[in-house]
Amino acid sequence: MPVPGLTGDLSARNGGWTRTRDRVETYFDRTATRTWERLTSDAPVSRIRETVRRGRDTMRAQLLGRLPSDLRGARVLDAGCGTGQMAAELAARGADVVAVDISPALVGIAEARLPAGLPGRVRFLSGDMLAADLGSFDHVMAMDSLIYYDRHDIARALGTLGRRTRGGIVFTVAPRTPLLMAMWRAGQVFPRADRSPTMIPHAPAALGKALHRAEAPGRLARLDRVTSGFYISQALELTQ
Ligand SMILES: C[S@@+](CC[C@H](N)C(=O)[O-])C[C@H]1O[C@@H](n2cnc3c(N)ncnc32)[C@H](O)[C@@H]1O
Repeated sequence: MPVPGLTGDLSARNGGWTRTRDRVETYFDRTATRTWERLTSDAPVSRIRETVRRGRDTMRAQLLGRLPSDLRGARVLDAGCGTGQMAAELAARGADVVAVDISPALVGIAEARLPAGLPGRVRFLSGDMLAADLGSFDHVMAMDSLIYYDRHDIARALGTLGRRTRGGIVFTVAPRTPLLMAMWRAGQVFPRADRSPTMIPHAPAALGKALHRAEAPGRLARLDRVTSGFYISQALELTQ
């Protein structure tokens, strides 16, 4: 359900966030909607995509492992919910979930896929994860939704979300592995409008410094990295 006004609050002071977010929206809402819909389903995919799917399942389980198994009474933000896999798991634990994504098409798929009869409830919204109208939370999950942003944007986003969150923010970044650095460099040299917005690899230590500069409250902890074929993702947690 598109919500007017869900535009986030970094746009005025940070064109970087807005520019990246707009490219991400174009990609997920038009170019890659069907690919993403298929990858996040049980439908057959290529062997390479199968490794990505398995890696993402492992990562989702790891991130969920940071939260209590009983989430009744907890308000949780699924920031960049995509087709709703995380939101459904959170609602299965009883959480009151706000699932937001900048792509209305993916939010539509997520809504249609949500199993009936879950103990928790999910409110799906299309818009920016930083929109103040979303309210405050006990936990925030951001799986692979910050991977396109530079460290200053991530730090400011985490600062904004951190001030609205009582518990932790569990999220992922692309780590600075040789493969991801090579892909990132190739993306810089051969930018193509129709391709996924380039992932930006990060070193947790540099992210920690950017958080400090952005006066983002909390402590940054490194969790496990998941490597499965072309899926390489580092989990992190910012706790208050
Ligand atoms: C790689 S997908 C991951 C989706 C989901 N978290 C998952 O793991 O299946 C990244 C998602 O983040 C969303 N996204 C990126 N920036 C966003 C923003 N500023 N506000 C809301 N959603 C955003 C994209 O539209 C996309 O659906």
